[in-house]
Amino acid sequence: MATAEDLFKDIISHSKEYGFIFPSSEIYDGMSAVYDYGQYGVELKKNIRDYWWKAMVQMNENIVGIDAAIFMHPTTWKASGHVDAFNDPLIDNKDSKKRYRADVLIEDYVAKIEAKISKEVEKAAKRFADFDEAMFRSTNARVLEYQQKIDDINNRFKSALEAGDLAAVKQLILDLEIVCPVSGTRNWTDVRQFNLMFATQLGSVTDESSTVYLRPETAQGIFVNFLNVQKSGRMKIPFGIAQTGKAFRNEIVARQFIFRMREFEQMEMQYFVKPGTEMEWYEFWKEKRMKWHRSLGLGEQNYRFHDHLKLAHYANAACDIEFQFPFGFKELEGIHSRTDFDLSNHEKYSGRKLQYFDTEENRSYVPYVVETSIGLDRLFLAVLSTAYKEETLEDGSTRTVLRIAPSLAPVKCAVLPLLKKDGLPEVARKIMDELMPDYLCQYDEKDAIGKRYRRQDAIGTPFCITVDHQTLQDNTVTLRNRDTMQQERLSIEQLKAQLSEHLSLSHLLRKL
Ligand code: GAP
Repeated sequence: MATAEDLFKDIISHSKEYGFIFPSSEIYDGMSAVYDYGQYGVELKKNIRDYWWKAMVQMNENIVGIDAAIFMHPTTWKASGHVDAFNDPLIDNKDSKKRYRADVLIEDYVAKIEAKISKEVEKAAKRFADFDEAMFRSTNARVLEYQQKIDDINNRFKSALEAGDLAAVKQLILDLEIVCPVSGTRNWTDVRQFNLMFATQLGSVTDESSTVYLRPETAQGIFVNFLNVQKSGRMKIPFGIAQTGKAFRNEIVARQFIFRMREFEQMEMQYFVKPGTEMEWYEFWKEKRMKWHRSLGLGEQNYRFHDHLKLAHYANAACDIEFQFPFGFKELEGIHSRTDFDLSNHEKYSGRKLQYFDTEENRSYVPYVVETSIGLDRLFLAVLSTAYKEETLEDGSTRTVLRIAPSLAPVKCAVLPLLKKDGLPEVARKIMDELMPDYLCQYDEKDAIGKRYRRQDAIGTPFCITVDHQTLQDNTVTLRNRDTMQQERLSIEQLKAQLSEHLSLSHLLRKL
């Protein structure tokens, strides 16, 4: 039985072998936490982004999109708090010279205790037929002891961070006897704060005034354009501004493939609301975003909300939508009630008014903001890891298939002449010409048909159209469904209608 770790390794190697994701600059041995999207990866990523854009921008009359530049005036990041507060607490092991995020060392320690609880629950579930998990968790002495330990650690850690007491964070690591995974020792340096923004120089003079940052979130491009969009679009509150684009963070913990990268893509929406109504909208967007996730068909059981214990410097409420990745439940999307923190600070630092005149109330105010922020690469990983299946077929043979929702699949259909002769390639080419304006299609005449089907399964192509000798007689082809592997015979004229029924985004949109 393959472990989740094995499965994850298989997904990573499949991604590389089939042109989804490559390590960046691999010929120079790659760069940690930086990846390139290959020919199929880029299509899947675009399709996922398009679905988000469709659902968030084009299906909501009061939400519009923008595309702000990655470089922004450096004062933006002073105003947003990122220069002073966008830090990770880091600690080095003096023996291995390895650097760690102090919070991750503690989280990993807590995860080990959580695993012990899960083991107890599993053991008990096997023993009793009418097992009540909630009851067990709230009464079993050992579980309660573990849970108490977790709570104590979380409380100590939270108050140390809130007080900015890095010595107390180090003391917690020492008290828990956490060792460096490489050297195995407890020879730790002090904990220091490390800013996650990448700085670079603009122009030819390299003094402090020319320092610019690669944006660590796309949101600030929206805030600085709030009035431009509101005025030019005559937007009335509540309204949203959305954008997708690259963000950059100097992440110290580089692991879990494309889950945590130094260069990644965000899809963010800032929803501007009347002060005092933000909690209603926060709840509204929590529910709406969860519904959107469920529409992808990745499995209801794979999602959960996680409320933030430690709020970011800008938020008065925040939660994550977590997804069950092959390495466990982790943050996929953040929903944050950002108050008027950003707009007010931009007012202060820029000296410009960033207010909305509410005609109903006959007064101006700085709107409050509810943000939805999702990492496109994380969503890509969620889609890919749920789609990846190694299947044993009835005849005992095996196949690797990506069961990606047809409307998101990189290649929509493959056109396959059964033989490379007798006029079959010519007919197949004609079908390609018909379908290519609407769909990304692939023509393949090499190898036996079964082998060609397997190649398409491995990249998640939902349909294979096979042209055979009967096609020459009656203008029909076979249409093979990736998931059922069933083939139906239909006329070439019916193909387009049949494909559009399955490949349109409205399949997913209907579930919203
Ligand atoms: N504007 C708010 C903001 O940036 P965040 O929780 O720091 O909030 C939002 O990031 C989302 O961006 C996360 O939920 C995650 O999906 C994605 N993300 C953040 N850091 C990432 C990284 N290093 N690599 C990949 N995705 C990342």
